[in-house]
Amino acid sequence: MIIAVDGPTASGKGTIARALAEHFGLPVLDTGLLYRAVGYQTQLNHGDPDDAADALAACQFPASLLDDPALRFESTGSLASRVSVHPPVRAALFQRQVDFANQPGGAILDGRDIGTVIAPHADAKLFVTASAEARARRRHAEMLSRGVDVTYDAVLADVHARDARDTGRADAPLLRAPDAMLLDNSDMPPAAAIAAAIAFVETRTRNNG
Ligand code: C5P
Repeated sequence: MIIAVDGPTASGKGTIARALAEHFGLPVLDTGLLYRAVGYQTQLNHGDPDDAADALAACQFPASLLDDPALRFESTGSLASRVSVHPPVRAALFQRQVDFANQPGGAILDGRDIGTVIAPHADAKLFVTASAEARARRRHAEMLSRGVDVTYDAVLADVHARDARDTGRADAPLLRAPDAMLLDNSDMPPAAAIAAAIAFVETRTRNNG
């Protein structure tokens, strides 16, 4: 069974993907981490994230970089969204994601283009979203709890900028697949969103099996 979980930044898709992985006993890949590693490696190389050749060179990042806490920084998320617009970068990361999706026994992947590009044949697809304000509120609270000194307005501006870049790019833009369940959790506690996601996957796989 392959489950695709897509959605914009700070939508809660990672939480839902991990909960589904635990519930169904499947391995999960946070594909955003791969783009974050490329963005961060570009910076380590003193390259320009807006330059396709510099970003492509950074696709040769060491595996150990995926465990670097710096990948979780907001600034790394912005770098990731800049390198991810380059088609050669998307092509360089493509096979790794396809292989993960197609491993025996199945898998869950979360990202932006899983249901549309990486695993269009997925058994169940979810498009997890929430209003920009709800996402900014959650991210702001989470950053304050980590001691990061940032204003709500700055976080909201970053959410809008990331959305514009992710939906506006020509190659594999953030897009809801026509057969994806829309899960808008603006007014939903995480437990309710997780329960809705599990119920949807169970219905889908029952109908297919
Ligand atoms: O999901 P996360 O916020 O970690 O992703 C960081 C950035 O990587 C996103 O803003 C997006 O531009 C890019 N990304 C992508 N395709 C994916 C996953 C992430 O373009 N499948």
